[in-house]
Amino acid sequence: MDSMMIDTENYLKLIPQMLSELSKPFVGREEESKVILLALLTKEHAVLIGEPGTAKSALIRRAANLLSMKCFTYLLTKYTEPAELFGPLDINALKEGRYVRITLRKLPEAEIVFLDEIFKANSAILNTLLTIMNERLFYDGYTEIKVMLWSLFGASNEVPQDPELEALYDRFLLRHYVKPLPEDMWRDLLKYSWDIERYGYPQPEITLDRATLENVSRLVHMVNFETIKSKLLKIFSMLESKNLHITDRRKGKALKVIAAHAILNNRLTADEEDLMALKFVVPHDIDDFERVYIILSEELKTSYRYLRELEEIATSIKEVNNYIVSFPNINSRFIEYRLLEIYRDLESTRDRVLSMMRETNDEKIHKKGTEVVENINGVLEKIKRKMEGK
Ligand SMILES: Nc1ncnc2c1ncn2[C@@H]1O[C@H](COP(=O)(O)OP(=O)(O)OP(=O)(O)O)[C@@H](O)[C@H]1O
Ligand SMILES: [Mg+2]
Repeated sequence: MDSMMIDTENYLKLIPQMLSELSKPFVGREEESKVILLALLTKEHAVLIGEPGTAKSALIRRAANLLSMKCFTYLLTKYTEPAELFGPLDINALKEGRYVRITLRKLPEAEIVFLDEIFKANSAILNTLLTIMNERLFYDGYTEIKVMLWSLFGASNEVPQDPELEALYDRFLLRHYVKPLPEDMWRDLLKYSWDIERYGYPQPEITLDRATLENVSRLVHMVNFETIKSKLLKIFSMLESKNLHITDRRKGKALKVIAAHAILNNRLTADEEDLMALKFVVPHDIDDFERVYIILSEELKTSYRYLRELEEIATSIKEVNNYIVSFPNINSRFIEYRLLEIYRDLESTRDRVLSMMRETNDEKIHKKGTEVVENINGVLEKIKRKMEGK
């Protein structure tokens, strides 16, 4: 038990280290580094979409360098042939009537795969790719081979338009739109680019092997997300009502990303803020990235705002309570009037709390709200007794 706790602590500590190693040589690419790490933590695939020269390839290559795992990188074109990715046919075997590929150092043997211009994938390679990504199986003619693929990373300048590519796109649980840096980061960009130009990329200070990555990723399964489940369901239906459809595969896997996001924030309990990770899961079209971000931050802010407001109310109720207790029992018109005023204020505060509770499914808000309502009722009771002269 104790050693497990220590291990958990140690594995948790690796995550911020990886994050900073990954983003270190780049300006303003923390979010992109997070997406890559979320993919690694969940053993899922991620695609970075954005205009040329935004460090998409450089980031993914650096991630591969952080892992001492078998990597395969390739730039796809419309004409890429299966042999280029999956290995050439074994001629000797073919002479004996066997259809076998020599997969040595090719994609089927890789644990980390980076396919640049991923949506250039043609139908000759598409089906094989789909099965490798989803089932982690490689169909080599007649035989089925289990592959060691951990995560496949893709980069592209645009989201795929061809419906034939939908199945491929759907397999990227994590998607991120990489925007060019804003003007206030250009000065840093010059400095960082110059450093890369002169010294190349710094050697990572840590590298993870597969066994360690397995252990780190196991942390995701330890996350408790009961508190955010109903909120997640509510967000799903809200997004659906805004025509942001999430395929069932992605809905089912969203929880994993949310849990990984908690881990990324050094927590073993998912919080509402982890639902923000949905911004990497929900978007489909380019416009969706911004839209989903706005919708989520609005929706999640509400809960935060409510929780803060409830805390403020709780504090002021305590003050009112002390004030009431210290109130003299003298029956004057003034005091009676003052008590009545406070009584009415408290009643309307209670209405406000009850309406907050009606508006959200958030369990934290319900718990806090119930507590506050009980406190208000307590103070109301005291005021009544005061007014009755007791
Ligand atoms: N934010 C950044 N910080 C530091 N260097 C950067 C940044 N953005 C771009 N660069 C520099 O620009 C180079 C180009 O990046 P990279 O080739 O990874 O772009 P890309 O997004 O993959 O482009 P393409 O879509 O054309 O493949 C990087 O190797 C790096 O030197
Ligand atoms: Mg590139």
